[in-house]
Amino acid sequence: MSNTYLLLPALIAGVILLHLAGVSSAAGDRDTLVAIRKGWGNPRKLSSWDPATAAADHCSWEGVTCSDATGGGSGGGGGGRVVAELSLHDMNLTGKVPAAVCDLANLTRLDLSNNALSGAFPAAVLYRCSRLRFLDLANNALDGALPRDIGRLSPAMEHLNLSSNRFAGAVPPAVAALPALRSLLLDSNRFTGAYPAVEIGKLTGLERLTLANNSFTPAPVPLAFANLTNLTYLWMSGMNVTGEIPEGFSSLTELTLFDLSSNKLTGAIPVWVWRHQNLENLYLYENSLTGELPRNVTAVNLVEIDLSSNQLVGEMTEDFGNLKNLTLLFLYFNKLTGTIPASIAQLPKLSDIRLFDNHLSG
Ligand SMILES: *[C@@H]1O[C@H](CO)[C@@H](O)[C@H](O)[C@H]1NC(C)=O
Ligand SMILES: *[C@@H]1O[C@H](CO)[C@@H](O)[C@H](O)[C@H]1NC(C)=O
Ligand SMILES: *[C@@H]1O[C@H](CO)[C@@H](O)[C@H](O)[C@H]1NC(C)=O
Ligand SMILES: *[C@@H]1O[C@H](CO)[C@@H](O)[C@H](O)[C@H]1NC(C)=O
Ligand SMILES: *[C@@H]1O[C@H](CO)[C@@H](O)[C@H](O)[C@H]1NC(C)=O
Ligand SMILES: *[C@@H]1O[C@H](CO)[C@@H](O)[C@H](O)[C@H]1NC(C)=O
Ligand SMILES: *[C@@H]1O[C@H](CO)[C@@H](O)[C@H](O)[C@H]1NC(C)=O
Ligand SMILES: *[C@@H]1O[C@H](CO)[C@@H](O)[C@H](O)[C@H]1NC(C)=O
Ligand SMILES: *[C@@H]1O[C@H](CO)[C@@H](O)[C@H](O)[C@H]1NC(C)=O
Repeated sequence: MSNTYLLLPALIAGVILLHLAGVSSAAGDRDTLVAIRKGWGNPRKLSSWDPATAAADHCSWEGVTCSDATGGGSGGGGGGRVVAELSLHDMNLTGKVPAAVCDLANLTRLDLSNNALSGAFPAAVLYRCSRLRFLDLANNALDGALPRDIGRLSPAMEHLNLSSNRFAGAVPPAVAALPALRSLLLDSNRFTGAYPAVEIGKLTGLERLTLANNSFTPAPVPLAFANLTNLTYLWMSGMNVTGEIPEGFSSLTELTLFDLSSNKLTGAIPVWVWRHQNLENLYLYENSLTGELPRNVTAVNLVEIDLSSNQLVGEMTEDFGNLKNLTLLFLYFNKLTGTIPASIAQLPKLSDIRLFDNHLSG
């Protein structure tokens, strides 16, 4: 008897405590969002976060997504849930990333792209986001070198997008110390020196890799990337790549985009390029590629081919007529000869074809 009398109040107290814990973490997130808005100077685009007028449920505020106890992301109402995602792209945000962002202990996705954020990579702030999987800082005005300990971002990181900022200096090898990365987007910055090709080549889960449009030291195509067999998107234009396109890249069978344009490539275009069934966009323009066009084109899903401004010789074969999805074919500024095959004129989707400055007829 006496046991039951003791147990019941204890159980009730336990239930109340658990409930309070849930509510207070939700209330904590609401206060944190208000602090983040304040940290950004209460911008007009975050008016739905104004505590004076905001909806009671912070999970319904603009750009905020909460998750339930099972961890699945979902928008909308309900108390006790925690903020899992902040989607604050195109919000006209300026200045630095407020330290309070990582007080959202369950944040997995942070999209701050297309704003006007400035200053250095917010390392000290973001290292505290221990569950972050997705970080998008693209199209801002962040500058300076990336920190050498950038590998201290959450080990769960899958997508790191730093494209189109003003980051400078060398790319630290520690960017590849994030083993779960599927996207690593570093294009269109002011990086210099040698990028850590060997380390990046170990990120075998990578699907999207962009290094394009940086002033790297001239260097050959890294053979280490031949191990990145899950790559679908490889953008390495305008970054001083020298030498030949490796035969070893024939392992990259998932590629849909292969862009090595505006570099210093020499040698012939390898045969695998014309065979990969997933390839849709092939850009090798503005290089010094030599050799003949292929006899056998079986990469039938190609949509755009731009090989302009090279030193290619030989004839276009009827095989180009196999490319039923082709919309763009640029071969101008080369040394092609022979006649233009009739099959090309019959391609149903081809709308932009530029073959001038060759020795073609027909
Ligand atoms: C939120 O994070 C805390 C602390 O890391 C954790 O205990 C809790 O289970 C998480 N909640 C959800 C809903 O993911
Ligand atoms: C963005 O901010 C600038 C000043 O910081 C302001 O002049 C401009 O109107 C804002 N644009 C939008 C769309 O809110
Ligand atoms: C940045 O990269 C991520 C992951 O690949 C992608 O989902 C996102 O759309 C990119 N952001 C921009 C602004 O393109
Ligand atoms: C290259 O980067 C610069 C600076 O970030 C940008 O202005 C330019 O548009 C980029 N070029 C391409 C082709 O993306
Ligand atoms: C590569 O992609 C396949 C299929 O999506 C996946 O099963 C595999 O785990 C990926 N490899 C790595 C190393 O992530
Ligand atoms: C290529 O390398 C040279 C010499 O290091 C450098 O001056 C130039 O800016 C680089 N160009 C590009 C497009 O990266
Ligand atoms: C690819 O990975 C294997 C196994 O990790 C390694 O032995 C090999 O050197 C790598 N290839 C290149 C070109 O880096
Ligand atoms: C073209 O390549 C395919 C395989 O990609 C092969 O089966 C076929 O025999 C080749 N044709 C010629 C004419 O070389
Ligand atoms: C062409 O594109 C369509 C969709 O746009 C796609 O279904 C088809 O698989 C592509 N490839 C070929 C060879 O038609």
